[in-house]
Amino acid sequence: MKEKIEVLRQKFQSQMAEVSDDSRLEELRLSFMSKKGAIQDLMKELSQIPNDQKKEAGQLINAFKQEVQSKFDEKKVEIAALAEKLLLDATESYDESMPSACPTGSYHPITLIQRELEDIFESMGFDVEDYNEIVDDYHCFEALNIPKFHPARDMQDTYYLSTPNQLLKSHTSAAQNHIMKKYGPKLKESGRPIRAVFPGRCFRNEAIDACHENTFFQMEGVMIDKDISISNLIYFMKTMLSEVFEKDVTVRLRPGFFPFVEPGFELDIQCLICGGDGCPSCKNSGWLELCPCGMIHPNVLKHGGINTEENPFEYTGFAFGLGLTRLAMMKYGVKDIRVFNEGDINALSQFTSK
Ligand code: DAH
Repeated sequence: MKEKIEVLRQKFQSQMAEVSDDSRLEELRLSFMSKKGAIQDLMKELSQIPNDQKKEAGQLINAFKQEVQSKFDEKKVEIAALAEKLLLDATESYDESMPSACPTGSYHPITLIQRELEDIFESMGFDVEDYNEIVDDYHCFEALNIPKFHPARDMQDTYYLSTPNQLLKSHTSAAQNHIMKKYGPKLKESGRPIRAVFPGRCFRNEAIDACHENTFFQMEGVMIDKDISISNLIYFMKTMLSEVFEKDVTVRLRPGFFPFVEPGFELDIQCLICGGDGCPSCKNSGWLELCPCGMIHPNVLKHGGINTEENPFEYTGFAFGLGLTRLAMMKYGVKDIRVFNEGDINALSQFTSK
């Protein structure tokens, strides 16, 4: 039996060496392993072998069968790998050193202007803070000297949530109280002035058109210390706006009413397009309304834990609420506010930082 198996092994090996595709492999497999195959013939011969040699012969045949089977398995994998390599060689030729054609993303214009402003304010010693988009009535109104049922609440058509006392932030001023409580202790202990800006997304129930959106961005800022006056406010606003527009801007203050500042102002800049002579962009007035601001109301400072009942004017401060979306429209010449929220990549990818 041993010799027969050896002869068959030689035959198998030489035939296997010639095989290079699946169909030839299958043919060979059948000729050895099928019911009419060579190994089955060996099995048949077992009956003619003397009983005392049967066991050994049977084991030899089985071992050979396993050997043949594993050679088939190996060959199958080999053929598949070869086929894949041939396919890759035929289809894929690429040059690793070529520049990628994959488009890179770009920053949203609001992000660009926000970052630019953050850099400018940081260079003037301001901290940059973040705040929630869902706020409560106290922070959005009461702490800002807007009591319940005060008509000033009508200035903002607010989205109230179904959870009691919660609403979508209608202005970034809602973070003022939090900032005062966070930085107040340092102001009192070490005399470090509070200087912080806090950009954020705001929501109001506006009818949407080219100038109004229900979702927009503001950047609020406060500075609180001893002896802070309107001159400090004007200085910081003028410096910041000159940086943003990369030219010296002329500003003016007009009275404006906001319950959380006293006095309150509208800050205008002289029209950058006509230089103040009057043009369609400034509705022929020569001025553009840019940023409401004012001296923080004593009640707001009290709510923030800055001043006490006994010493209600120890610290003073200014606050401003810059319309980031509006600023982005002016800086980039965007005429329709809806561009910012529509998510049209073609439109939004055109903006770059300075
Ligand atoms: N929060 C006001 C609004 O969204 C804007 C504002 C006005 C902010 C005066 C201020 C301020 O900080 O002093 O309408």
